Amino acid sequence: SLSVPSVQELAFQRPEKVPARYIRDQDGDGIIATYPSHPSLRVPFIDMAKLVNADTHQKEELRKLHLACKDWGVFQLVNHGLSNSSLKNMGNQVKRFFELPLQEKKRWAQRPGTLEGYGQAFVTSEDQKLDWNDMIFLKCLPIQNRKLDLWPQNPPEFRETLERYSEEIREVTMSVVKFLTMSLGIQDKEISESFREGLYDIRMNCYPPCPEPERVLGIAPHADNSGITLLLDCADFPGLQFLKDKKWVNVEPIEGAIVVNIGQIIEVMSNGIYKAPEHRAVVNKLKERFSIVTFCYPSPHMDIGPADKLTGEGKVAVFKKLTHAEYFRKFFNRDLDESFIDSLR
Ligand code: SIN
Ligand code: FE2
Repeated sequence: SLSVPSVQELAFQRPEKVPARYIRDQDGDGIIATYPSHPSLRVPFIDMAKLVNADTHQKEELRKLHLACKDWGVFQLVNHGLSNSSLKNMGNQVKRFFELPLQEKKRWAQRPGTLEGYGQAFVTSEDQKLDWNDMIFLKCLPIQNRKLDLWPQNPPEFRETLERYSEEIREVTMSVVKFLTMSLGIQDKEISESFREGLYDIRMNCYPPCPEPERVLGIAPHADNSGITLLLDCADFPGLQFLKDKKWVNVEPIEGAIVVNIGQIIEVMSNGIYKAPEHRAVVNKLKERFSIVTFCYPSPHMDIGPADKLTGEGKVAVFKKLTHAEYFRKFFNRDLDESFIDSLR
């Protein structure tokens, strides 16, 4: 891997132009944001309080959830059970961390060739385009996977805030996955329980203001390789966009909500009924944006293949069954010009 400069440091010098390596429009892929203009192009909204309520609204909300996961692969979730204090503190701790001087942040810098810690997404060649993004990426659960030497001790409450946040996120994830199995009509306990011993990796993103936002991306288009991904948007303006009917649609941040998107593991387990959507992050000319993204994976003991109840009796499995290790080996050795999900068919 090759080293990439800090985007915050770059932005700090208030350049009028962005260095060529960040410019995306040279090969014609114009990236101007498309704003939602019609109610059918608004990311669906799901209320967990209704999902929980078996007597009244559950059936209707499960139907909404089903359509959201099938047609969009993403929804905004409210009444999710994350505590207000965790939401607020986590956002504050991340902002305070990124406000520290570069030298201080570098105490927790990525080690060469690895992604964990403070730094940037990795590049493998000098001509690869760069994202307008600095991050800190940490494995949070299970506890034995934590590399504490990469966990910031400044601001002082960072570690305990992240510990608590990750525990709460696991609870939310287990509920969401349970409801996903219900909306699929399979109530597969093995799948929802596999997230109890699951892997939870958290990526905290900083997108500094950018002098040429219409030519740059915060994060290039991709689909997540997770089971599901839970995103806390700390901004009050949009940055995250999902591809829907070939249009990029903004996620308008809703205070207290979390954005949940389907990852490729749930796409596989749902036998392709639910889709892992393409998404990207755009940047803002004047304002800095932060987001906190948790990638949730089932237990490494769980095979990754279509749920048994969705195959058999004349229904065809559209994906192969792989072990956790095989799935990740395939992901890390994937051909970047080919669709990863298609390689699992
Ligand atoms: C992501 O795709 O992982 C993050 C996008 C964002 O920060 O909104
Ligand atoms: Fe993503």
